[in-house]
Amino acid sequence: MPLDAPARADAWLAEARNRLGAATLGTQAEEIGRVEEVGDGIALVSGLPGVRLDELLRFGRGQSGFAQVLERDRIGCVLLDGVDGAEAGDSVRGTGDVVRVPVGPGLLGRVVDPLGRPLDGKGPVAAERLDPIERPAPEIIDRDLVVQPVQTGLLVVDALFALGRGQRELIIGDRATGKTTIGIDTIINQTGINQAASDIVCLYIAVGQKASSVKRAIDAIQGSGAAARSIIVVAGSASPPGLQWIAPFAGMAMAEYFRDRGGHALVVIDDLSKHAATHREIALLTRQSPGREAYPGDVFYVHARLLERAAKLSQAKGGGSLTALPIVETDAGNLSAYIPTNLISITDGQIALDAKLFYEGQKPAVDVGASVSRVGGKTQAPALREAAKTLRLDYAQFLELEAFTRFGGMPDTRVRGQLTRGARIRAILHQPQHAPLRLADEVALVMAVQSGLLDTLPLEDLARFRLGLRDALDQGAAEAVRAVQAAGKLDGAQKQSIQDVLHHYVQTIMPPKKSDDPVAAAQPA
Ligand SMILES: Nc1ncnc2c1ncn2[C@@H]1O[C@H](COP(=O)(O)OP(=O)(O)OP(=O)(O)O)[C@@H](O)[C@H]1O
Ligand SMILES: [Mg+2]
Repeated sequence: MPLDAPARADAWLAEARNRLGAATLGTQAEEIGRVEEVGDGIALVSGLPGVRLDELLRFGRGQSGFAQVLERDRIGCVLLDGVDGAEAGDSVRGTGDVVRVPVGPGLLGRVVDPLGRPLDGKGPVAAERLDPIERPAPEIIDRDLVVQPVQTGLLVVDALFALGRGQRELIIGDRATGKTTIGIDTIINQTGINQAASDIVCLYIAVGQKASSVKRAIDAIQGSGAAARSIIVVAGSASPPGLQWIAPFAGMAMAEYFRDRGGHALVVIDDLSKHAATHREIALLTRQSPGREAYPGDVFYVHARLLERAAKLSQAKGGGSLTALPIVETDAGNLSAYIPTNLISITDGQIALDAKLFYEGQKPAVDVGASVSRVGGKTQAPALREAAKTLRLDYAQFLELEAFTRFGGMPDTRVRGQLTRGARIRAILHQPQHAPLRLADEVALVMAVQSGLLDTLPLEDLARFRLGLRDALDQGAAEAVRAVQAAGKLDGAQKQSIQDVLHHYVQTIMPPKKSDDPVAAAQPA
């Protein structure tokens, strides 16, 4: 039976009373601050005494930022969206949360900004969850020794300064000496062009780089097919300083997702000089006192806590690893400037690039004397470690002898032998960009040069030797190639089979000796 009008009103009133009675009414305090000053990517905010360090702040017009400096009555806030639209007088609220970024496998193959917003026009990123950009590094007790290799595909690195999973290796050098290329080539080598399938997920983090350099890096990674296993995080030179500042931290958080699941990740941070400059800029704008070279005193701590997150985890923690390849730029080869020395002391070694070598055409321009890996040979694949045992020493001796004999003098036979061998070592260490080598090819190249097979081969024919080596090995020593690719090891018979192939193959490259072979000599070229 339908209710009449007064009864309906009564029913409504009763229900409204019930609902009102159930509601807990009270006052809720919310701090609303005010922007005092805005400029160059930062805002000075007052009226938020409850805000904590690194807390995410929201501005009245929708921008966000985080608290970087807390003073008695003022907060230095780093803006994440640039200064557009933010003005003095705007309202600001604390959020009680820190800056978080999306993480998860949905990021693979994507190009994103440091907040995980897509830059590749492929639609929203499918994140598994949001992780804070700053997290404590794994405890010592949760770490394990760095013993598994990361193949870079660059012979000079793999043979002389092997890189391990969980290691932090600095790439240091002047402007335009091939720093980025070393990082990109290492990423390209994880794609499976050279190995069955590398299980390493790669992140390339561009901080403060020119758009053209970023474009080149993205093209190289995507062109090589490495994109499906990579995440590219871009905060270019035109990005707000806040985004550039958080980029390496955000990238680390994305990589930690894989590390903590027992997976393996490799992070290339390009580069930390620009990051340090951004940190200095923010510090000066928020009026922190400048220290050496005008950097604030905590710049070491910023980079140390970033790179400490790279680690090899113990079995109990899943056995995952995070390898870091930070890049730093030097001025005129000055390794002892403030930021480079900081980073050298934070990392487990460095690959030093030399501008002079680069201009002489020795690429990658690795300065063998100034480079080091403090993790040691344990990370090297056993087959390569055995083949390259004396390679570094031989090469170093050659470089010294060469400098010595450059000004004339008639070296004796032994020295001449060393010079011949050294020149061939230098030639095999030469490698074009984006052409990483298989481990099997690296082992064979080192075996060829160290067994003296290449000593009689003219230097100009070495390029041809390298070119056909892969096919020769695949045809003549397929089993050995499989063994070394799969396990990094060779038994006696397999080693012999590679030696046999090399022996035959080098004969096919060797130019005919004119005096011995009158028929060949008579042939027109
Ligand atoms: N192994 C190589 N073989 C041939 N060319 C190379 C090699 N490595 C680097 N290059 C070339 O040298 C130039 C500089 O390389 P790259 O951009 O990697 O240097 P960088 O040190 O990162 O420079 P920047 O200081 O501008 O960041 C590029 O044009 C690159 O193509
Ligand atoms: Mg570069």
